[in-house]
Formats: sequence, C-alpha cells, structure tokens
Amino acid sequence: MIDFNLDSEHLELRDMYRKFAEERVKPLAHEMDEAEKMNMDLIKEMQQCGFFGIPFPEEYGGAGGDVLSYVLCMEEMSKADASTGVTLSVHTSLCASTIQEFGTEEQKQKWLRPLADGSKIGCFGLTEPGAGSDVAGARTTAVKEGDEYVINGEKIFTTNSGFADTFLVFALTDKSLPAHKGMSAFLVDRNTPGITVTADIPRMGIRAASNAAVVYENVRVPAENLLGGEGKGFKIAMKALDGGRIGIAAQAVGIAQGALNEAIKYDKERVQFGKTIASFQNTQFKMADLQTKIDAARLLTWRAAVAKDKGEPYNVYAAMAKLMASDVANQVTRDCVQFLGGYGFAREYSVERMMRDAKITEIYEGTSEVMKMVISGSLNLK
Ligand code: CAA
Repeated sequence: MIDFNLDSEHLELRDMYRKFAEERVKPLAHEMDEAEKMNMDLIKEMQQCGFFGIPFPEEYGGAGGDVLSYVLCMEEMSKADASTGVTLSVHTSLCASTIQEFGTEEQKQKWLRPLADGSKIGCFGLTEPGAGSDVAGARTTAVKEGDEYVINGEKIFTTNSGFADTFLVFALTDKSLPAHKGMSAFLVDRNTPGITVTADIPRMGIRAASNAAVVYENVRVPAENLLGGEGKGFKIAMKALDGGRIGIAAQAVGIAQGALNEAIKYDKERVQFGKTIASFQNTQFKMADLQTKIDAARLLTWRAAVAKDKGEPYNVYAAMAKLMASDVANQVTRDCVQFLGGYGFAREYSVERMMRDAKITEIYEGTSEVMKMVISGSLNLK
C-alpha cells in the first residue's frame, strides 16, 4: 500500500517549520544575501528550536525525528532562504549523520551530542582544489605518529567552515593505496592548532552561507578521533553524500516552490493590457507545468527519505531526487524571474536571489553529471 500523503504528525511538523520560516527566516533573507553573511542569531534560534538535531535520537540530544521530518524542514527553510537551508543540511546530513552512522559510542557522546543538541555546528571537509567530482584525487594526508595523526593539506568550498565547531575531514592515511582504500575520516575540533579558515569565497548564490578554504598545517589529532577505521574514509564520504543529496534535493524543491509562490502572488496583482498577468492562459499553463514538476521532484525526494528511514537502499533514489529537483529548481526560478518581468530582475524582489541560489544545487554534493553516473551505474549497462 502506498500513501503519498504526510501523516498528521509530519503535517504538524511541516506547519511548524513553515511558520518559523515565514516569520523568522524570510524577513532576513534579502539582508543576509546583500551582506553575504549568515545571521548567527537566526542559527542560534534554530538550534534552540531543535532544528539542528531533527533526525537524531533523543539519547544523543536530538529531537528523535526522522529523515522525512528533516526533509520537510529543509524544504521550508530553503523556500524562505537557501543559504539557511544549506547551513542546516551540511551540519545535519554530511557531518552529524555520518558520526551517528560510523561513530563509536564514545564518539557519539563526545561529537554527535553537541551537534544534535544545538550547542555546536558541523562541517564536512572533502573537496580539495584538485579533487572535486573525483574524490579519489584527494591529496590531504594524515600520518600516524604515536597515538596521534598529523593532518596536512588544503580543503576548499567547505560549507559552514566560517563558524563550524566540528570539522569532519578526509585525509589519506596510506598514500601507497588508491584513495578508495587509503583514505580515512577524522573528527577535528576547530580550535586545534594548525587550522586556518580563509575568508568566505565570493559566490554567485547562497551568498549568506559560509564557504571557505581550510588549510591544515601539522594539525595533530588524537588517534581516537579516527572515524570508522583506517582506510574506510572513501566509503564513509560516499555514504555521507548519499544522505546529503536527499537534503539538497529538498533544498532545491524549497527554492522552486518558494519562487513559484512569489510569482503567483505577484501575477495575481500585476495588471498589464487591462488584466492581471495571472489571468493570461500562457501564465496559467506555464505555472501548471512548473507546479507539476515541483510535485514530482518532491515525491522523489520523499521516496529517498522514506527509504533511508526504513533502512532500505536509497543512494540511487537520492541521486534521482537531486538530479531532478535541481533541474526543476533552475527551470522554475528562471521562469519566475520572467513572470515578474523587469521586477523579477530587480534585486528588491526575491526571485532573482532564488535563481542565483538554484544553480548550486546542480553542483554541490555531487554534480548532475555525477548523479547520472550513480543512476546509470545501477542499470546494469556493462
Ligand atoms: N556507498 C558505499 N560505497 C560506495 C558508494 C556508495 N554510495 N559509491 C561507491 N562506493 C564504493 C564502490 O563500491 C567501490 O568499492 P570497492 O573498491 O570495494 O569495489 C569504491 O567505493 C570506489 O567506487 P568507484 O570506483 O565508483 O569510485 P570513483 O572514484 O569512480 O568515484 C563517484 C565515484 C560517484 C564519481 C564519486 O567520486 C562521487 O560521488 N563524486 C562526487 C563527489 C561529491 O559529491 N562531492 C561533493 C563534496 S561536498 C560539497 O558539495 C560541499 C558542501 O559543503 C555542500
């Protein structure tokens, strides 16, 4: 039996996230984008509301929710502001969820608990200047010395790095092996000597999110900070990204729905040639197409989330959801700028920000081309 509707518990949560996003996030979105800076009071408030711990068990300080609830939160936050969305997403899916999945009991108490209870923020250091889609091209090393590892290298485009407390970092512990077998994952505290976070990289979209390069120079971490065992890093990164892609799909759905809602509001009021733009059949048919695509992307995203919640394989579902939702977000936001005409192009209206924000969903946490590699890899074509 398939039920495509949310149950009353999830509906209630969605309404709560929606109210928060409308009242607390939306009024700040324009200002944060212009300032290219996250409002940390907003993040604090979201932490206090438990939004940074949604899918984690209460025994680790989390809200005891599920991935579907997290996805609903991601959509609502991103509808109002995609920068807020990605801040939540990287913390939740790439950092904290990975500790939950691969951490020992001690590591979960020490590292997951403060991330889930809202006292700390996490980030994920995988991408390097020479290793983007090709994760196996990473060069950062972690050399064991006694009961410590010494990390050296440079990571780039590390979302949340400007303010994160906990860095989940990937480094080669055995350079003689391909990274698939020689890479390991480490939990690193921001205040460890040798870490330099650069200024945020100026970007086209999600400008309020923090995204910087991080240099690791003789960063010494205790051996107990190794996550999941030596040589397990590549597969840990892949699993983290499988989950992360569900969050980014939800972000893309949110951006698209947020833009369409703005365009509907505008086109019902804007009068040209003696009638509202919304009363033209061209507008109506185009909006019908866009809403249908958004719903399809949302259902793919929910399917991936529910599969993850049920403990079923979800990596291909996640890739399909992200591939489609990011494409839809780009189409919808571009059309919504058009729906608003000259005002759509003006910085004062949010759809131009949404169009700029949508682009990154086709790039980060795996480009659309990588999504196609993952999906086609499941089709037994060889
Ligand atoms: N789960 C578990 N294991 C996996 C896996 C998965 N999803 N995907 C691959 N593996 C395993 C394979 O089974 C294989 O295992 P064996 O060696 O035991 O056979 C091993 O990993 C190597 O697999 P591949 O040969 O497929 O690896 P590859 O080097 O060809 O790379 C890839 C595959 C899909 C292209 C991968 O590199 C990839 O996902 N690239 C994209 C990286 C990405 O998403 N980067 C985003 C960074 S984070 C970010 O965006 C910043 C941010 O803060 C938002």
